[in-house]
Amino acid sequence: MNRLIIAIDGPVGSGKSSVAQRLAGLLGYTHLDTGAMYRAVALKAMRQGIALEDPAAVEALAIESRIDFATSNGSLRILLDGEDVTDEIRAPEMSQQASLVAVVPGVRRVLVAEQRRIGAAGGVVIDGRDIGTVVFPAASLKIYLDAQVDIRARRRWLEYRGKGKEVDFDLLLEEVRERDFRDRDRAISPLRRAPDAIYVDSTAMEAEEVAQLIALLARERQKEIATAVTAPPAHR
Ligand code: DC
Repeated sequence: MNRLIIAIDGPVGSGKSSVAQRLAGLLGYTHLDTGAMYRAVALKAMRQGIALEDPAAVEALAIESRIDFATSNGSLRILLDGEDVTDEIRAPEMSQQASLVAVVPGVRRVLVAEQRRIGAAGGVVIDGRDIGTVVFPAASLKIYLDAQVDIRARRRWLEYRGKGKEVDFDLLLEEVRERDFRDRDRAISPLRRAPDAIYVDSTAMEAEEVAQLIALLARERQKEIATAVTAPPAHR
């Protein structure tokens, strides 16, 4: 069967990562979390005291960084220069830092090239903001995942609480709105629904349900591709 490139884009808290991970499990695909790559560069900049306002320095950092993905006990781990930084990049302050790193054109250039290299062979579920529009505009299946903003903030709040971090909900809601604005209104690769992306509203859906739904769509798409390839030429 054809191994697809599945692009999932959407705003913060729409459930992209959890859905992408479950979907990859259902289909036996690899999950590529592109947000984690921007977070890893942001973490490295913070550790080295590099000002995010200095685009040349942040780009140089992205070029010299090695970001790898590994699976351990079924969970996706992110390695920055060989070090497991999965938990560190999820800290609340890293979300803001990552969205600042993501507006640097040089950083995007480096990370997009890497994402294309990893995903080119197919059999991947890639989640981010610009996957269906910029990274893989010819992806076989594109999903735009959305949810109401207060629900998205609540998901983040629960996620932090699950990790023992108490964050003020109103503050978090404000931050989510701010990040929405930054992701959607930036000049380069803003978050947009690709015209051919299927819109999925996950406000009232669990990640597992969304993953099952997209898995169904993926199987349909595989059948369509197989039929298109094997169908004899139409009679003239
Ligand atoms: O999905 P996330 O919260 O882990 O993403 C972190 C930041 O990186 C977020 O502000 C948006 C940005 N990002 C991006 O610009 N393009 C992507 N493909 C993925 C994430």
